[in-house]
Amino acid sequence: MHKASKVYVAGHTGLLGRALLKVLSQRGYTEIITRAHGELDLTDGNAVDEFFKNERPEYVFLAAGLTGGIIANLTYPAAFLHTNIAIQDSVFQAAQKYRAERLIFYGSSCMYPKDCPQPMKEDCMFTGGIEKTSEAYAISKIAGTIACRAYNAQYKTNRFTALVPNSMYGPYDNFELETSHVLAGLIRRFIEAMVEGRERITLWGSGAPRREFVYSEDVAEASVFAMENSDRLQNTHYNIGSGADYSVKELAEMVRKVTGYGGIIEWDAEKPDGVKRKLLDCSRFMALGWRPHTTLKEGLKITCEWFLENKVKRL
Ligand SMILES: NC(=O)c1ccc[n+]([C@@H]2O[C@H](COP(=O)([O-])OP(=O)(O)OC[C@H]3O[C@@H](n4cnc5c(N)ncnc54)[C@H](OP(=O)(O)O)[C@@H]3O)[C@@H](O)[C@H]2O)c1
Repeated sequence: MHKASKVYVAGHTGLLGRALLKVLSQRGYTEIITRAHGELDLTDGNAVDEFFKNERPEYVFLAAGLTGGIIANLTYPAAFLHTNIAIQDSVFQAAQKYRAERLIFYGSSCMYPKDCPQPMKEDCMFTGGIEKTSEAYAISKIAGTIACRAYNAQYKTNRFTALVPNSMYGPYDNFELETSHVLAGLIRRFIEAMVEGRERITLWGSGAPRREFVYSEDVAEASVFAMENSDRLQNTHYNIGSGADYSVKELAEMVRKVTGYGGIIEWDAEKPDGVKRKLLDCSRFMALGWRPHTTLKEGLKITCEWFLENKVKRL
């Protein structure tokens, strides 16, 4: 990928898409192509074909899709399955037809079996049953990851690569309580409780599950690194994480510290917990020379400040 290459960031208004735009611009890439969802519905195969025919992007970051936390997964499984598979299908086909140099797809740690040995290696996919609460989303991500292998095999190429980030967080995350991931949901609850002066806060689940979080800009840097080193990538998927996991209780205490909330935390154990632990083994990608840079403490501080500035003060 050269500084003047035509780079398409699909889903540029999302958590990862925004981070990709920032990192690409910091690195001096000048020919970035974007289309908002309203301008181009990526589930519409004909529209996507037309777009690729006209724009001929050389490098594609496929950061568009439907994603969300456990409640969203339980409420909208058909939408997760349909939308993600339709987007992937349209974009993969057009990228192949119009000969994009490389496409990066994003899988998810929920593709791995729920009883997988921890930390989870790439090769543990298909070695056991997956978590029921996110199975429709996980199947769409498995389909995209296998699509990379299938396109590479059928077209005798190595141009399709899946990166598998663990739970991402950062500015521009989805902070809606019904659909957010765990960390964005915690940040919102603590900051709102602070602002409204509430004495108690109720959090979902038992607080026992352990999760790994990776800052969105670290995933964006990993993605640009992968594009810049694409001749060294193998025909496989690569895990992207921060290397450390925390229980949701520990996480809540960290968010409490950053936000300065002094009230009581209660846990609603009626709400589902999901998988007990999700930590990725990232040694395959790290062997290429990439490292995450942002500690959870630093990333939390930036994200809380962003939420306060952009969501709370603007209400
Ligand atoms: N967040 C995580 O923790 C995580 C972890 C692992 C993998 N991933 C994967 O990484 C990718 C990016 O995740 P994210 O968290 O950045 O998601 P996000 O913040 O929800 O952003 C998704 C982006 O996709 C766009 N989009 C959705 N449906 C579209 C459609 N039909 N046509 C065109 N654009 C559409 C959205 O635009 P609108 O908002 O305008 O609809 C938005 O720009 C996804 O594939 C996700 O599955 C995410």
